[in-house]
Amino acid sequence: MALLEVNHLGVRFARRDGPPVTVVHDVSFALEAGGTLGIVGESGSGKSQTVMAMLGLLASNGRTFGQARLRGEDLLAMKPAALNRIRGDRIAMIFQDPMTSLNPFLTIERQMTEALQQHRRLTRREARTRAIEALERVRIPDAARRIGMYPHEFSGGMRQRVLIATALMMEPDVLIADEPTTALDVTVQAQIMALLREMNRERGTAILLITHDMGVVAELCDDVMVMYAGRAVEKARADALFARPQHPYTVGLLGALPRLDAPIGAPLRTIPGNPPLPGGAGMGCAFAPRCVHAFERCQREVPPLHADGARARACHLDAEILLQSTPGVGL
Ligand SMILES: Nc1ncnc2c1ncn2[C@@H]1O[C@H](COP(=O)(O)OP(=O)(O)O)[C@@H](O)[C@H]1O
Ligand SMILES: [Mg+2]
Repeated sequence: MALLEVNHLGVRFARRDGPPVTVVHDVSFALEAGGTLGIVGESGSGKSQTVMAMLGLLASNGRTFGQARLRGEDLLAMKPAALNRIRGDRIAMIFQDPMTSLNPFLTIERQMTEALQQHRRLTRREARTRAIEALERVRIPDAARRIGMYPHEFSGGMRQRVLIATALMMEPDVLIADEPTTALDVTVQAQIMALLREMNRERGTAILLITHDMGVVAELCDDVMVMYAGRAVEKARADALFARPQHPYTVGLLGALPRLDAPIGAPLRTIPGNPPLPGGAGMGCAFAPRCVHAFERCQREVPPLHADGARARACHLDAEILLQSTPGVGL
């Protein structure tokens, strides 16, 4: 049994000014214990709402369909109190903006020890010692003094480290990281990715990493799911996906990745056009308007996600034809 298994997950939002919109369609994936899965796609493709739905954190106008199981237990059928206990204990989360998870009015010590005392029955003293150790592990210098500071006294990168330290301390089964490095500069980004990798390799924490950046996926993930307009369009082992992407959108995302062998200053190739607005996709493949390979069938029929061995893709075009026409993608 997978540690985390999501089956046919859907998310629909009611709107005041129109019919409801479905922003996540029939998404399924599995994360094994100790595994690393990247969910990648452009902004608005439904990545965050997929995990919010799974954790019972959708906005009040949202409705969730399908199943999400943690060690076989259905998270979507749980009472809010039970789900609350799982979040922050067996599942830890870090977000793009660490300030959203930190209380500006409490010291770092209070925030870290409260989580521990709530979930782990430690005394304040024991909790403080553990929190300092965790801050040291994420290389916050002078942790015993800094633990008494407030979030605004830390830089963005340091705040993200505090959240990783908090997660480390709780020893969760799964860490969900939603664009954890998007707001950080490149050097700090690399440090945060190294900490996540360490947490996975040394502690066996499974990581679900959400990002719009294929480069970030390449640094950490064993498995990848590519999302476009609320649907999974390709799923594969990361090395296989980078070597031979089988969906035109994945090819586009990889083309938008800086290549190591590209001359310095060479422009990135980006995918022309924009994704459809929510509810704005026509009857065919949502990527068809931006796809250089699109043919007549793509305009009228949504391609189903078709599995072939360890891979899956949702595209009407033959994978071999796509491969022959895309030289030199990848890292
Ligand atoms: N409360 C809401 N009501 C209506 N639409 C929403 C709501 N929250 C998010 N959405 C829409 O859901 C879509 C998917 O969003 P999201 O999962 O956040 O994308 P991303 O892939 O960038 O994380 C977006 O089009 C967003 O505007
Ligand atoms: Mg998001």
